[in-house]
Amino acid sequence: MSFVEYSEKVQDGDVVIVYMGHESMMQLKVQAGGQTQTRYGAIRHSSDLIGLRYGSKVTCSKGGWVRVLHPTPELWTVSLPHRTQILYTTDIATITMMLELKPGAVVCESGTGSGSLSHAILRSIAPTGHLHTVEFHQQRAEKVEEEFQEHRVGHLVTVRNQDVCSDGFGVAGVADAVFLDIPSPWDAVAHAHTAMKRHGGRLCSFSPCIEQVQKTCESLSALGFLDLLTLEVVLRVHTVRTLSLPMPEFGPDSGPALSEGPFPSPSPASLPVRTTTPPRETAGHTGYLTFATKPRT
Ligand SMILES: C[S@@+](CC[C@H](N)C(=O)[O-])C[C@H]1O[C@@H](n2cnc3c(N)ncnc32)[C@H](O)[C@@H]1O
Repeated sequence: MSFVEYSEKVQDGDVVIVYMGHESMMQLKVQAGGQTQTRYGAIRHSSDLIGLRYGSKVTCSKGGWVRVLHPTPELWTVSLPHRTQILYTTDIATITMMLELKPGAVVCESGTGSGSLSHAILRSIAPTGHLHTVEFHQQRAEKVEEEFQEHRVGHLVTVRNQDVCSDGFGVAGVADAVFLDIPSPWDAVAHAHTAMKRHGGRLCSFSPCIEQVQKTCESLSALGFLDLLTLEVVLRVHTVRTLSLPMPEFGPDSGPALSEGPFPSPSPASLPVRTTTPPRETAGHTGYLTFATKPRT
C-alpha cells in the first residue's frame, strides 16, 4: 500500500480506510495480531484483513459489516487525526488545478498542519516530483513526517521544522509552485519568490479573512507577481427530489384551425420529474484562495 500507488490486497503494516457509511469512516494501521473495535463489533487484523482484496466487505464480531478501502488523499482528508484546521477536497481540487501541479513538479508548502493538502500534492507530483513542507510547531512536524513514512511517500517529501516567515523554505530557485496556509502570508511571499524557479511559477495563499487577502495581494504586487486572482470555493449540496409538474398542453396535432373555434381546455394530467433543488441559503465559507504568477526574472 502506498498513497501514490494502488495495491490489490491488504498487507501487514498498511494504513486502510474502514468505510461504515458515507459520513462515517476511520483509518487504521493493520498489524498482525491486532484488533480494532467498531460500532459493528471487532475487526481482527490477521484473520479479517491481511490478504483481503481492497474494497471487500468484512463482517465484524457483532455481525455488522464494513468495507475496507485503499487509502487515497480524499479518504485521508475525511478520516485523518486533526491536529489543526485542515483544507478539504473542494479547496484542494481548485488548488491542485490552479497551481498546475503535475508529475515531476517541485512544490513548497507552509504550514504543513495535519498534512491534508500535502497528501494531495504528493499524489499529483509523484513519482518524480518533490514537496518541501515547512511547519514551525515541532510535534506537528514530527508527527506528519512519521505519517509520510507510514504512507510510503516519505521519499517524495522533506519536512522542515522552522518559521517560514523568518527562515523561508530552505531551498532557492527550485519550486514550480508555492502554497501558503499561515496567519501572515504577506511575511512569507518574499521567501516564496526566492524558493521559486527563475523562469517563474504559480503561488497560492489560503486565508479565512479578506483583510489578510488584501495585505497578501499588496506584498505580491510589490514583488512583481502578476495575474492576481482571489476565489472563494463554496460547496453547494443539492437535494434529489421528485416533483410533480403539470403536463404541458401543446394543442391538438391536427385540430381545428384558429378560425374554426376554441382550443380544448388544458389536460389535468401531471408528470413526475426526478430533479434536484439547491438550498435557499448556502453556508460554508472556509476561506479565500489567492493565486498569482511569478514572471520570469
Ligand atoms: C491551518 S494549519 C495548515 C493546515 C494544512 N493546510 C492542512 O491541510 O492540513 C496552519 C499550520 O501552519 C503552521 N504555521 C503557522 N505559522 C507558521 C510559520 N510562520 N511557519 C511555519 N509554520 C507555521 C501552524 O503551526 C499550523 O500547523
